[in-house]
Amino acid sequence: MEDGRLSGVGRAECAGEIGDPEACPDQDEGDHDGCEVAPQQRRAAAVATAGVLRHGAIFAAAPIIGKNAGPMRAPILEGIGAYRPHRVVDNAEVCQWLDSTDEWIRERSGIRTRRWASPEETHAMMGTAAAREALERAGLEPEDLDMVMVATCTSTQPIWPVAHQVSASLGIEPAAMDLNVTCAGFCYGLGLARDLIRGGTVDHVLVIGVERLSDITDRTDRGTAFIFADGAGAVVIGSGSETGVGPPVWGSSAKRGETLLLSPSYAEFIADKDLGKPSIRMQGRRVFHWAGETIPSVARAAVEAAGMQMGDIDVFVPHQANQRITDLLVRSLGLDDDVVVGQDIVDSGNTSSASIPLAVHRLLADGKAHSGDVALLIGFGGGLSFCGQVVVLP
Ligand SMILES: CC(C)(COP(=O)(O)OP(=O)(O)OC[C@H]1O[C@@H](n2cnc3c(N)ncnc32)[C@H](O)[C@@H]1OP(=O)(O)O)[C@@H](O)C(=O)NCCC(=O)NCCS
Repeated sequence: MEDGRLSGVGRAECAGEIGDPEACPDQDEGDHDGCEVAPQQRRAAAVATAGVLRHGAIFAAAPIIGKNAGPMRAPILEGIGAYRPHRVVDNAEVCQWLDSTDEWIRERSGIRTRRWASPEETHAMMGTAAAREALERAGLEPEDLDMVMVATCTSTQPIWPVAHQVSASLGIEPAAMDLNVTCAGFCYGLGLARDLIRGGTVDHVLVIGVERLSDITDRTDRGTAFIFADGAGAVVIGSGSETGVGPPVWGSSAKRGETLLLSPSYAEFIADKDLGKPSIRMQGRRVFHWAGETIPSVARAAVEAAGMQMGDIDVFVPHQANQRITDLLVRSLGLDDDVVVGQDIVDSGNTSSASIPLAVHRLLADGKAHSGDVALLIGFGGGLSFCGQVVVLP
């Protein structure tokens, strides 16, 4: 079953009701090979004559509950927004407190400037600003949102999730949740939103990536002080006639998690203030090598999962971790010269879960990428974690 532009996305998916030949072309022949519906589930559904079988979920008796009644829908990106803090911090300023040079930072990371948020530029403030732009570009009102999802690893108020603070700022009370998968968080959120839309659970989801990494950066640490920064990016996901958000290829190298963490932890700091403020600590070389070894195969799998070839990709936006990692990925994947590559790290630094929507937003704003382009996104970082997917740009 073809399902729009990302041709493999809808393959092998029987989304229909038993007895609905429109939804599953193999229905009449009794041949469901290549369809996700398992034989025993089909038998069960045939017995439950009043029931509906849909991806293994059997509702044994009418009425069908809620919205989960129709065929799978095609998720699309409807709008994108961004917020960049006002304060621009260049390498010369960083070198006022860090034993380093502008030349070394540019050569090793690609970064020239980064943005650091003021106390007023809170997670909620930045997330709301990005959300408002994404909604406007999607032609939607806040009231159209069924869910607000915020990817962040720097929230300092976990009991009052940022997603709820953003919702309140937008004047709405939808389902709301924060999630933390560090630098892969935005792509994880996109993956979850995709399936919520496909399944018909919700109509419109706002996914925000927002960070204030400057709060947890030790300004004298040579391995991290010049890398991390602040900002927010957001997308609205809804449904359309052709699929525009491919399946996520996600996972972790959890056994290597200690290579990137907060130290001391908050618990250790509360127990002993002399340990100093919790700050990001990174074994940079190990993270670099892990990314080089792991991420190319994740990227290839994401393209394959979308039923595409690497040659179909117009735009490549990896997490803006380090320009050298981006360059390495471009080489490993053998991307054509005309593929547009996200390079937002140069002016924005590494903003973890915000980096991918910020980089996509920048490419669209600069006219380097366009609505309708096919983009490969791939987030990776602390955890260690990764998530890639192919999308059609809004
Ligand atoms: C952080 C990173 C730029 C450091 O570069 P590196 O080449 O690994 O640096 P090293 O710590 O091995 O040090 C190499 C040399 O640079 C020096 N150095 C280290 N940090 C420095 C700094 N900030 N300024 C100047 N010199 C520095 C070291 O003293 C060492 O000098 P030596 O060769 O004379 O002994 C690099 O490891 C990296 O980019 N890793 C990936 C990190 C990343 O992307 N993280 C994001 C994950 S979300």
